[in-house]
Amino acid sequence: MSGFMFIIAFGLFGASFGLSGRFWHITDLHWDPTYDPSKEPNSVCASSGSRPASNAGTFGDYVCDSPWNLINSSISAMKATLPDPDFIVWTGDDTPHVPNEQLGEEAVLGIINNLTYIIKQHFPKTKVYSALGNHDFHPKSQLPAAFHNIYNKTSEMWKEWLHLGSQETFRQGGFYTEELLNRTGYRMIVLNTNLYYDQNKVTEGMEDPAGQFAWADHILTEAANKKEKVYIIGHVPPGFFEKKRSKPWFIAKFNEQYLKLIQKHHAVILGQFFGHHHTDSFRMIYNSDGSPVSTIFLTPGVTPWKTSLPGVVDGANNPGIRLFEYDTETLLVKDMVTYYLNLTFANEAQERWEKEYRLTESFQVPDASPLSMHKILERIANDNCYLQKYYEYNSVSYDLTNCDKNCRIDHVCAAREVDFSRYEHCLEKEAAVYMCGGLLPFLSVLLSLVLTIYV
Ligand SMILES: *[C@@H]1O[C@H](CO)[C@@H](O)[C@H](O)[C@H]1NC(C)=O
Ligand SMILES: *[C@@H]1O[C@H](CO)[C@@H](O)[C@H](O)[C@H]1NC(C)=O
Ligand SMILES: *[C@@H]1O[C@H](CO)[C@@H](O)[C@H](O)[C@H]1NC(C)=O
Ligand SMILES: *[C@@H]1O[C@H](CO)[C@@H](O)[C@H](O)[C@H]1NC(C)=O
Ligand SMILES: *[C@@H]1O[C@H](CO)[C@@H](O)[C@H](O)[C@H]1NC(C)=O
Ligand SMILES: [Zn+2]
Ligand SMILES: [Zn+2]
Repeated sequence: MSGFMFIIAFGLFGASFGLSGRFWHITDLHWDPTYDPSKEPNSVCASSGSRPASNAGTFGDYVCDSPWNLINSSISAMKATLPDPDFIVWTGDDTPHVPNEQLGEEAVLGIINNLTYIIKQHFPKTKVYSALGNHDFHPKSQLPAAFHNIYNKTSEMWKEWLHLGSQETFRQGGFYTEELLNRTGYRMIVLNTNLYYDQNKVTEGMEDPAGQFAWADHILTEAANKKEKVYIIGHVPPGFFEKKRSKPWFIAKFNEQYLKLIQKHHAVILGQFFGHHHTDSFRMIYNSDGSPVSTIFLTPGVTPWKTSLPGVVDGANNPGIRLFEYDTETLLVKDMVTYYLNLTFANEAQERWEKEYRLTESFQVPDASPLSMHKILERIANDNCYLQKYYEYNSVSYDLTNCDKNCRIDHVCAAREVDFSRYEHCLEKEAAVYMCGGLLPFLSVLLSLVLTIYV
């Protein structure tokens, strides 16, 4: 009897340590309603611009945004893989990459509505934390720091996911906070970082657009007082784009403010989840003493759309969706699994979502804590096998070419430094690795030895 009791007690005790929860993160669906694969390559989709869509199929083309079939396919894949997640994180960008003249307020709201509808249809009982992207506005990226009809209408569409207080702040500035897991002590903060985007001309002159920084500082201070644990989500992340050197998204002063906010409150922030890149990457945040204190997880997009950003070579990706595993008591991010659709294969053969990789398996770490993510970054920086693996995942197994030394510098420094001047310094430091004492001089010595022997 006492042995039996012991087993029960042990079971409960054990369970209280590893309570595992899961949630989906999806982002950058970018539905293009004009997509029609039966047309001539140059007119398959408006989002291709002048680029021909030469491999257009049922599920899309790498130069186009998502056809409805791909939207439906990705939400169906979520449902088939895990129909009852604890919650869903959805970080915006619903409309196609087309000139403003081809959209309009009605069209933008209509697209947000269709995507909201299909998510609700597949996950009617699931709480969704939804952030606006820079494309969820007309004109694009011009999200204001005050009441706007688009905020108002969107809060109406999302009202089942928003409490009254959230609807209020959302209508005034597109941000809000909600309880996480429907439990006291757990909090989600949904930011409208489009207010800090350097393409946003409406907010660029402001000190603290919509008072969001002051608001977030207040919520996080309260969270510390109440011993809450917090996740933060948003669309445009701070820091740099890893596929284009020295390309940040935020205006400099806002980048600094964001970094300070996280460094001040990192003790209550257990994870940050963003989109906008369409690629799979992450950003480390360190304390002044150099210890890793927070990670921004960048989840790849559903749209395969090849970016038209000048200077980026072949910047398309396979459609991806991501499952996070976390500890429901501590909110520690334990792992993440990325699933993807090989678009070429889907168009040629069949619709098949497959597991791309599991973080802890692929990078040999115990979890996805800041310390583990820091270790991953150091492995990527110092070991070509890890670098290449990370690089292939970065485009969701679309670009399988070799990541050369400039590529290594771009990816390592973008992941390591969110701060503008520290990033520039990292570029210099990492470039110097190749000039004196790095891997390359070693290899060239080796090569010359080999040549001496054989020539
Ligand atoms: C959505 O995708 C699912 C799964 O592939 C499929 O069964 C269903 O027919 C699709 N629905 C539409 C409207 O395309
Ligand atoms: C989008 O929503 C509109 C309005 O409800 C509806 O008429 C249309 O069929 C929807 N489109 C798709 C692809 O679901
Ligand atoms: C906000 O939207 C609601 C519902 O669509 C509408 O009834 C209300 O008039 C709107 N408020 C403003 C100030 O436009
Ligand atoms: C959250 O809890 C309240 C009552 O405690 C309940 O009415 C509500 O349905 C719950 N919401 C979710 C999403 O579980
Ligand atoms: C995707 O599918 C194509 C066509 O079947 C294949 O050639 C390619 O190797 C696949 N890519 C990956 C990463 O498996
Ligand atoms: Zn996007
Ligand atoms: Zn975006």
